[in-house]
Amino acid sequence: MINWKNWYADNIKDYEGYPLGKTLKYLSDPNIISLAGGLPSPETFQISEFRAASDKILANDIHKIMQYSAIPGEQSLFDALIVFLKRDNIHLENQNILITTSGQHGLDLVGRALLNTGDIVLVDRPTFAGALVAFGLEKASFIGVDIQQDGTNVEALDEAIKQLKIENKTPKLIYVVPDFQNPTGITMSLEKRKQLLKISYEYDIPIVEDSPYRDLRYYGKAIPSIFSLDQELYEGGGNVIGVYTFSKIFCPGLRVGFNIGHPDVIKKMTNIKEGNILNTPKYNQDLCTASLTQMNFDAHLEKCKSYYKEKLEVFLETMEKYFPKESGVTWTTSEGGLFLWVTVPEHIDTAELFFEAIKHKVAFVPGEQFYGEAPEKNHMRINFSYSTKEQLKEAIKRLSACIKSIA
Ligand SMILES: Cc1ncc(COP(=O)(O)O)c(C=O)c1O
Repeated sequence: MINWKNWYADNIKDYEGYPLGKTLKYLSDPNIISLAGGLPSPETFQISEFRAASDKILANDIHKIMQYSAIPGEQSLFDALIVFLKRDNIHLENQNILITTSGQHGLDLVGRALLNTGDIVLVDRPTFAGALVAFGLEKASFIGVDIQQDGTNVEALDEAIKQLKIENKTPKLIYVVPDFQNPTGITMSLEKRKQLLKISYEYDIPIVEDSPYRDLRYYGKAIPSIFSLDQELYEGGGNVIGVYTFSKIFCPGLRVGFNIGHPDVIKKMTNIKEGNILNTPKYNQDLCTASLTQMNFDAHLEKCKSYYKEKLEVFLETMEKYFPKESGVTWTTSEGGLFLWVTVPEHIDTAELFFEAIKHKVAFVPGEQFYGEAPEKNHMRINFSYSTKEQLKEAIKRLSACIKSIA
């Protein structure tokens, strides 16, 4: 038999799978309260509306649904997205859009289109682990700058670029999640978004703006997306690729997302899609179109927002109760999204704490998975959207007991 280990391609042979996947496999015990995954709450799912839309789609179009369909995506979804994004001051035509089979696929296409082995991607510390995986599979290397309360440390980023210039290197990409970042919940200020664009134009480095949570704002006013600022401030833009998904605002099961950007890079990513999955299922796209046009999207979003806001409040109140100042535990707050970042005293390694936590029937994601380089060990990502409010309270109680037990 072939020794498969010797047969793997260079860029994959040392890769041992999504670290998050390894964490999630410990969660089969139904008594564990998981604050680990990034799941939307099933209580927000529009089940009867979904059924009605599905029935209609199947009644009208089953022959087309059972067939291959256009690789860039369905025209009806393009039309709906053009209207949807115009509300966010983003102005698009068909050629600026590629339908993807989820946000993760969108990131994979960006990585394949732009990254060679050894190319440098600038990221926040911490940043979304799935982007590190997608870009890591292209053998990119990462340079991280510590995220601040108002988002990416753009000064440190600028400094890092200058330092690289001295070594005759230019980063290939800047990757950010400006709205309610995964894993910290932090949102980038308007000033920093503008500064980041300035850096992008000064050094000719594209920005990837990953935006799954943008519409899930529970407090305060929306800050313009980097994509819209690029269009507004730089003669129509062209330096930003937007990566979006229906996963958190409709449902993740359908696996539909969209990348937006300059027609050239959209065309290149479309060519890659030809060689990887061809078309995103038409049925799934049609349901996403229906979610925007027939399923009372605004009311649905309002419901999600008030629902998650309540959970966020419960989470924060309970943290205050169980983690007084002397515990040495701190956490971020957020104006939206699904995650918060909890920091424990430095001597605690959360990758080890994870196994203790499992014994206490509670789970989180160890923070080390969210670093492109030099991982910090004393953080954890907490998801507050999936568990019920009662479960959230109980989970924090268990977490507190767990941390005390190892002190
Ligand atoms: C920042 C970020 N980008 C992309 C994704 C991937 O989204 P999808 O579930 O649509 O693949 C996620 C999912 O959690 C995310 O948090």
